[in-house]
Amino acid sequence: MRKTVLAAVMLSVLAVSARADDNRIAIDLPPDIKARFLEQMRTHMNALNDVIHLMAAGKVREAGSVASSEMATGKGKGIGRFMPPEFREMGFDYHRSAGDFARLTAEISEPMDAAGWEKAVGGVAQITARCSACHATFRVK
Ligand code: HEC
Repeated sequence: MRKTVLAAVMLSVLAVSARADDNRIAIDLPPDIKARFLEQMRTHMNALNDVIHLMAAGKVREAGSVASSEMATGKGKGIGRFMPPEFREMGFDYHRSAGDFARLTAEISEPMDAAGWEKAVGGVAQITARCSACHATFRVK
């Protein structure tokens, strides 16, 4: 029991210090834009999920076309103008990485051999690196 309480105290201390260390840049968005932005983020998550599932099914070309249609082009619908320039730059970088992945899949033959898998997973890693980098830098208020 005492151990449980101690663990709970330690966890809450950790949670507080995690917040205190949060030095991501906070972007202030009008409520409707914030809702639209987060919704768009969830579609990025879904697109990434689709890409990985298609790859798991060996359909790397199809994964490339999902990346191309869902991730490579900005679907911000005017959200970009509310964002700081560094955010927009990271956003472009993300779209570019998805376009690069789509192009790279065209060079991989199906069924994928070990080299094909390495290339394909490497391409997806370039995309997820962009998700992570931006999430480490920015948050919304
Ligand atoms: C250019 C910046 C940027 C890129 C690139 C980016 N995100 Fe985000 N994303 C954000 C920010 C900022 C938030 C809000 C985080 C916060 O306030 O804690 C967010 C939030 C989210 C959320 C939470 C949505 C919600 O409803 O709360 C998901 C899921 C998400 N992102 C997925 C992704 C995925 C998957 C990728 C890459 C495929 C990605 N994001 C790429 C900036 C980015």
